Amino acid sequence: MKRPSPNHAISWSEVKRPIVCLAPMDGVTNSAFRQIVRTLSKDVILFSEFTSVDGLVRSEHVRLRLDYEPCEQPFFMQLFGNSPKMFAEAARMVADRGILGVDINMGCPAKKIVHSQHGSALMQDVDTACRIVESIREACPLEVSVKTRLGWKNEKNLINFTKSLESAGISMLTIHGRTYNQAFKGDADWGPIHELKSHLKIPVIGNGDIRDYNDGLAHLGNLDGFMIGREAGGVFSGSTESPGAHSS
Ligand SMILES: Cc1cc2nc3c(=O)[nH]c(=O)nc-3n(C[C@H](O)[C@H](O)[C@H](O)COP(=O)(O)O)c2cc1C
Repeated sequence: MKRPSPNHAISWSEVKRPIVCLAPMDGVTNSAFRQIVRTLSKDVILFSEFTSVDGLVRSEHVRLRLDYEPCEQPFFMQLFGNSPKMFAEAARMVADRGILGVDINMGCPAKKIVHSQHGSALMQDVDTACRIVESIREACPLEVSVKTRLGWKNEKNLINFTKSLESAGISMLTIHGRTYNQAFKGDADWGPIHELKSHLKIPVIGNGDIRDYNDGLAHLGNLDGFMIGREAGGVFSGSTESPGAHSS
């Protein structure tokens, strides 16, 4: 199928390194929070909290999450689900709003998400994971990225899994340096993320336990960028010269 031409494409090779990202956080990274983070940095790439594709397609109330302010760009709407068809429909709605891209959640470890074969469950179903990527790519011209973890119990499938996603058409990848089994326990391990980078052509973003911008730089190594979650809110002020930055 011929792909529509991109209206908000980004040339990742031209984006300033390190690529600094605000992590998607349910109940936190709504439009108001993203606008606050934008005042701290004009460069940070913002990710929305995750939203169900089924919810987006079926509920007018959920569709309010598509509302945003232009200053939030560049930003990714993070979606979760399992059906390639529903992802395609939801992605078309995201594209209609002019949002830069869709990030597919393949890392949430919450029981109710994984029991529905969403989130982390997609790490164990490469075929569906790739069909979701392809189906969004065929449906609209959005950037498609994935946020996932090192693996289910360990990182032995990380390279194969993410190479398949790259072949299916994602243009950026974020890895949280913990497994599904760990959920939030233990320390994030960035070693396998650094190892992965040499196997992929697309930008790879590391995530997990970053305290501030300088700590992100210390973890960066060969990666294209880092993503900050729990410590967000002030941490981006070192990443750019912004008139909104403050030191208090
Ligand atoms: C309150 C909260 C909500 C989260 N919601 C999401 C989410 O919607 N989608 C997602 O991919 N990750 C979610 N995460 C995981 C974060 O994006 C990130 O991967 C994790 O917190 C590790 O990064 P950090 O150490 O910088 O916080 C959430 C984390 C927290 C603490």
